[in-house]
Amino acid sequence: MVFEPWEAGRLRLRNRIVMAPMTRRMAGEDGIATEASVRYYARRARHEVGLVISEGTGIDGTHAYDTLTVPRFETDAQIAAWGRVVAAVHEAGGAFAPQLWHCGRLAADPIGPSAGEVPPKRDGTPRPPVRAMERDDFDQVLGAYRHAASKAVEIGCDALEIHGAHGYLLDSFLSEATNERTDDYGGSLENRMRFPLEVARVVRESVGAGFPVIHRFSQWQLADYAEVKFRDPDALAVWVNALADAGVDILHVSTRSATDPAFPELDGEDGARTLAGWTRKLGRLPVIAVGKVTTTLTMDRAYGEEEDEVTDPAPAFDLIERGEADLLAVGRALIANPDWVPVVRDGDWRDLARFDKGLLETLDGERS
Ligand SMILES: Cc1cc2nc3c(=O)[nH]c(=O)nc-3n(C[C@H](O)[C@H](O)[C@H](O)COP(=O)(O)O)c2cc1C
Repeated sequence: MVFEPWEAGRLRLRNRIVMAPMTRRMAGEDGIATEASVRYYARRARHEVGLVISEGTGIDGTHAYDTLTVPRFETDAQIAAWGRVVAAVHEAGGAFAPQLWHCGRLAADPIGPSAGEVPPKRDGTPRPPVRAMERDDFDQVLGAYRHAASKAVEIGCDALEIHGAHGYLLDSFLSEATNERTDDYGGSLENRMRFPLEVARVVRESVGAGFPVIHRFSQWQLADYAEVKFRDPDALAVWVNALADAGVDILHVSTRSATDPAFPELDGEDGARTLAGWTRKLGRLPVIAVGKVTTTLTMDRAYGEEEDEVTDPAPAFDLIERGEADLLAVGRALIANPDWVPVVRDGDWRDLARFDKGLLETLDGERS
């Protein structure tokens, strides 16, 4: 089933393999994606990836990005560069969705639900303290999402993804650990969901009916890989159904390992079901699963000294076969293997190259 075409509404994919969004920090300091990025994405499409999701692209030059070399999705020149990516991916037979990103608490000039300190970067560089968002900030962020979403439609994207995961702006509203607000945007789950849902509604309004909107969420965040935001299936059900009501079409469930059980403390089948599986069962939307497909190291260990190993994709493919997920996103293995789809389809997964963090230094050997 993995290599068969898939469609939902307007989105038609030649197979169920998705390129996971991966930040590469290779744009110019003007936030314009380069020709090297065009080639990087087109190459995966040429090798038959069904849906290419872009790296997180900053929705504004105000607070959304963490580094100037993160490509952005705001000015005419930045949008035109993404237009060249769309055209190249289409020419190669693929579909394309930009991931709309607001770094929030982890931005270069951070804003978030509550004021406070954030842990340093991976290399030890301290991050500036977070300023709590006020009404003007809410309006500014909603406006930036509205603008970016309309531009995604204008340049012919096949879908767009809202980055609602990993401790960045939208996720930091959901998380009890980072949201200490006492107004309508903090406290109960209903209140913590409010801002991410406002964003989903603004995006839906902006793109109109029928344009596919994906929302990515996670239990974990970068500052706490063990975080559990939804403690039980009931809480998860409230969230996934609220996203559907807000106009989201597809849920991208970010886990470190696609096949890990979500609530292992439960009995029997319930205890074995993955977060993607629960999301699909409790909600009414198609689901993208992700995490450790043909790699052994989880995200948090990928930057250490351990070496990755190539593994059999079969357990992840089983998720699709048994209806726990509709699509499967592949991240690091697609950096190491632009031709991942044909290699794996031919049964040659043992021939895949291992992911190594050194591969992040360049875009396929082409520096911008
Ligand atoms: C270098 C790198 C950059 C990433 N950047 C993003 C990002 O911009 N947005 C996002 O949602 N996830 C990001 N992720 C997470 C991936 O989308 C994916 O969920 C994760 O790598 C697990 O999939 P994998 O085990 O197949 O690599 C990044 C991962 C890596 C390795």
